[in-house]
Amino acid sequence: MKVLVVGGGGREHALCWKISQSPRVSKIYCAPGNAGITGVAECVGIKAADIDGLVTFAYNQGIDLAVVGPEDPLTRGLVDALEAHGIRVFGPRASAAAIEGSKVLSKDIMAKYGIPTAGYRSFENRREAVEYIKSLSSPCVVKADGLAAGKGVIVAGTTEEALEAIVQIMDDRAFGSAGDKVVVEELLTGEEVSILAFTDGITVAPMLPAQDHKQVYDGDKGPNTGGMGAYAPAPVCTPELYKYALEKILQPTVAAMASEGRPYSGVLYAGLMVTAEGPKVLEYNARFGDPEAQPVLMMLKTDLVDIMDAVIDKRLKDINIEWEEGASVCVVMASGGYPGAYGKGIEITGLDRVPEGVTVFHAGTAEREGKIVTDGGRVLGVTARGADIPSAISLAYRGVEAISFEGAHCRRDIGQKATIRR
Ligand code: AMP
Ligand code: GLY
Repeated sequence: MKVLVVGGGGREHALCWKISQSPRVSKIYCAPGNAGITGVAECVGIKAADIDGLVTFAYNQGIDLAVVGPEDPLTRGLVDALEAHGIRVFGPRASAAAIEGSKVLSKDIMAKYGIPTAGYRSFENRREAVEYIKSLSSPCVVKADGLAAGKGVIVAGTTEEALEAIVQIMDDRAFGSAGDKVVVEELLTGEEVSILAFTDGITVAPMLPAQDHKQVYDGDKGPNTGGMGAYAPAPVCTPELYKYALEKILQPTVAAMASEGRPYSGVLYAGLMVTAEGPKVLEYNARFGDPEAQPVLMMLKTDLVDIMDAVIDKRLKDINIEWEEGASVCVVMASGGYPGAYGKGIEITGLDRVPEGVTVFHAGTAEREGKIVTDGGRVLGVTARGADIPSAISLAYRGVEAISFEGAHCRRDIGQKATIRR
């Protein structure tokens, strides 16, 4: 079977790595891939945004299964376009991926179907947004409606910060047309957890709960990033919370999408805040999380291709999804300056010296003259599995110690919230 994975980050490396373990797969292509993915797949120079190029490639190569990693091609209809050419593809169509592509739509669906989330209002009119923010007595969160590469959410501690966010999104158009509308919502406090689920639109099969580390510095300080590390399973998600998330959030969301004429298939990611009043949805993503995919896929025992096939054929209920014992931890090594401006092309050394049991998923890397160099903000996801979270943490950091590149930085406290809880 020939598989095409679309994307070129750590998530896609983890997807290719897991898919390559399937005895059913004879060839994997990854578009555009990265220097690490070349170890498990053939990288082809087609960008994830190039819908026509990807469809032509998949059609000409006789691809048996396409897997779309990132949100941008999903919301722009890559799945629809591949399906129109008779190609089997894992991922939601554009109408369903809109649950990530429009925060106004996702909030409206949650409100309509009684799915727990922060109170909110949405605005197209800047003046009305400003008046509303001034009328609030407590801090709020301002979100650009559309995709903004994870940067369109401003957690505003004060009215001034919230008003500044409106200027940035609606006047300065920092996120382009993604800022045509804004959501202003209640600020929630608590611990975050990411629950990702496979779904064929009928059955919802949640994966191990994971926890991301969004802020750049230890102790959740500093600006938000795409994610500086993740681990699974996350003990903040108790069995009761897991059951509640499945029955009150994930299943109702999938049913709501069907009722709205947006049947959902693929991975549905619910980002939750565990508040004093129970879990509430912060956001949905229409795909695997990055870096959550790295530890979660490392824990997956079942053949991923079997699961994806069952999702496409709407027989997910027949699949028994099994997980490894223990825990997995992924520590992201980032370029100096990230999440701000950073350089590229810096040589990475020590990749061949990581201890056994550590898998280094590449995110922003490239090969230049036989050397592996940095090529993005998040460079590597150093991932390890252990009997428990502390042992996975210590093995992952032993991996980090072996690797170096100028300016490299990582958080030193990935997974610590789980150990404090124990
Ligand atoms: P989102 O892209 O909507 O998940 O937002 C990115 C991050 O902003 C989340 O992971 C949270 O850390 C934070 N965030 C979003 N919405 C809220 C909220 N209502 N209250 C507090 N923090 C939030
Ligand atoms: N790690 C958060 C995301 O993938 O959006």
